Amino acid sequence: MAPFVCPPWIGYLLINPFRKFLENPKNMLGPLVREGMVILEPGCGMGYFTLPLARMTGPGGRVVVSDLEPRMLAALEKRARKARLLDRIEIRRARGDDLGLEGLEQTVDLAVAIHVVHEVPDQRAFFGQIYAALKPGGECLVREPSFHVSRKRFEESMARAEEAGFKRRLLARGGGGLGALLLKEP
Ligand SMILES: C[S@@+](CC[C@H](N)C(=O)[O-])C[C@H]1O[C@@H](n2cnc3c(N)ncnc32)[C@H](O)[C@@H]1O
Repeated sequence: MAPFVCPPWIGYLLINPFRKFLENPKNMLGPLVREGMVILEPGCGMGYFTLPLARMTGPGGRVVVSDLEPRMLAALEKRARKARLLDRIEIRRARGDDLGLEGLEQTVDLAVAIHVVHEVPDQRAFFGQIYAALKPGGECLVREPSFHVSRKRFEESMARAEEAGFKRRLLARGGGGLGALLLKEP
């Protein structure tokens, strides 16, 4: 059975400003982001994390986002334009298992995959594409919602990430749920 893919109406719930009381982008991502970074965000939805990432990486940085659902990307684009951050954000459309990351090989400093991995049918391919896009020494933060992803399913996802080449560094803190920080070794 194909996994459940978050419909656009849930995308609107996910950009609710009250979400920051449970998942504060600055607390969750601030310790990992430095100005000027190239950041990849697969499964970005309507950009709840994208806009804060674009602010944190600054005018010299870039956030490359990818999502399967064009309505999520259209809403993200509109929000980014309104926030005057669109020039720091590069929007790519994923199709099937292909995240659309052509040309990014070894250019990304940090990848951020939040509440998306459990929706991906081929997680080995998903992590393989992120691994290829990261620079050696780059990291990938994964977070999954514990209200519908069990620890067992999360560990299975982490096994797919390790098959793709990642080393698991530590359990990511902040934001609740299940999380890990994965490393592409230098
Ligand atoms: C639950 S939403 C999370 C959105 C965002 N990360 C957040 O936390 O607000 C999951 C998003 O992943 C996208 N998605 C699901 N499967 C995907 C895939 N295989 N490739 C790219 N995006 C995918 C969905 O379209 C949706 O926008």
